[in-house]
Amino acid sequence: MRLASLRLPFVANSLSAKLLVLTILFVLLAEVLIYTPSIARFRLTYLEERLAAAHIAALSVEAAPDFMVTKALQVKLLSYAGAHVIDLIQPDARVYMLSRPMPPEVDDTFDLRASSNWSLIMDAFGALVQGRDRVIRVIDRSPKDHAQRVEVTMDERPMINAMLDFSRSILAVSVAISLIAAGLVFVTLNALLVRPMRRLTDGVVAFRRDPDGAPPMVPERRRDEIGVAGRELAAMQGTVRTALRQRERLAALGTAVAKINHDLRGILSTASLLSERLSESTDPEVRRVTPRLMASLDRAVELCGQTLSFTRDGALPLRLAPVDLRALVEEAGEQVLATLRPDGARVEAGWSNAVPAGLVLQADADQLSRALVNLGRNAVQAGAVGVRVAVERRGERLTLTITDNGPGLPPRARDHLFQPFAGSARAGGVGLGLAIAREVARAHGGDLRLLASTGEGSVFALDLPLSPVSATPGGAAGGEARLASAAT
Ligand SMILES: Nc1ncnc2c1ncn2[C@@H]1O[C@H](COP(=O)(O)OP(=O)(O)OP(=O)(O)O)[C@@H](O)[C@H]1O
Ligand SMILES: [Mg+2]
Repeated sequence: MRLASLRLPFVANSLSAKLLVLTILFVLLAEVLIYTPSIARFRLTYLEERLAAAHIAALSVEAAPDFMVTKALQVKLLSYAGAHVIDLIQPDARVYMLSRPMPPEVDDTFDLRASSNWSLIMDAFGALVQGRDRVIRVIDRSPKDHAQRVEVTMDERPMINAMLDFSRSILAVSVAISLIAAGLVFVTLNALLVRPMRRLTDGVVAFRRDPDGAPPMVPERRRDEIGVAGRELAAMQGTVRTALRQRERLAALGTAVAKINHDLRGILSTASLLSERLSESTDPEVRRVTPRLMASLDRAVELCGQTLSFTRDGALPLRLAPVDLRALVEEAGEQVLATLRPDGARVEAGWSNAVPAGLVLQADADQLSRALVNLGRNAVQAGAVGVRVAVERRGERLTLTITDNGPGLPPRARDHLFQPFAGSARAGGVGLGLAIAREVARAHGGDLRLLASTGEGSVFALDLPLSPVSATPGGAAGGEARLASAAT
């Protein structure tokens, strides 16, 4: 990870700032959505009030003698109603009319009987944006009596002024509401989300920089996702710390084991050489135990060799060459059948080689044979009396199956399958055989799997490519189990 990505965000980029801006924007958007229909309704109500006032003013005509109202009274009534001309059309088509002496020309007519919500909104905004002082005629059924029709000619300017006042107060309220809402949302989210997240982030960054020195994370007592994340993170830190310490210890241990093994193997080889002389002894008892002594010494040398090569640094080096698989399996079988029982006698088992002749693959013959011998030996050591090796080819890959009729893997071996030193369930076993076999498989770009393990026997599958991609692969997968590789 690059160092830059570890840096915590600048305030303007922080979660809190983004939340604040977004909240303000959303509240303002909500206010705009509310404003649109309310300004249209405001205009409609204004006009209806005018129409109602006009209706009442026009009724004076009915009360006047001969339906004639004096000019002076007409002007007075019209100015109270805020109109230039008022027509009140009765159901029987009689018209009561009030008019100023020289009424102005009408610029626009709005028939509210034919209006829809949409046209009301459009007319309201149209009134706000047009710049002239228009004279408008408004027609509607009378709000006082729907049977009568009222037509009012009036100036639009007072209505626009009222609408602007209304808009200004709505704007002020909107801004106040959005600020209060944004503030509340901000404070709440900050306390609930942002600050805990920041603590988590700080903890992660500190741990990443210095896994040993960083103070342990104290998870918050909450049951939501942040609480879970905090607890899991704290647990994960614990696991990682333990693993790191274990790795250090194992690395040191691996180096020590490698050194001891190296010297021990030399000593044992000498002892083995010398003990060969015992077979020439004149004492029959000495001659009798000599083979067992030599077998034990050979086993010890072999063990040292195996441990040493396992704890060696780096990836398993491969010397690839064309290998005749059938011949290789045959040879491995001979070695497996030469396995000695603890009492020095040879095991008694059958080795069946079902690999067809002529199958050639690129591999390191020694390593591959080592893997096969380990698998075969495990089987006969567990008590199998028959081991069968078969092969199946799928395109450029092979799967070797090693099937035995032994008792199956004991639970301890199954629980620690392929774990070096941990999986042995056999007296005198080191627990490296399976780990080594898998490392060999992975170094070739393949793998080793346990296919079945029952009371009737076990089946291991060794996957291999016909030719490994690179000459020295296996580093990452195969090397992870190595002890000493951790020291580098
Ligand atoms: N084919 C098998 N049948 C039954 N048990 C098996 C078989 N293969 C492995 N095991 C069990 O798995 C354990 C681990 O095997 P592994 O080869 O890793 O170690 P080991 O045989 O104990 O020691 P070594 O390092 O000498 O091989 C064995 O001890 C044995 O109990
Ligand atoms: Mg073994």
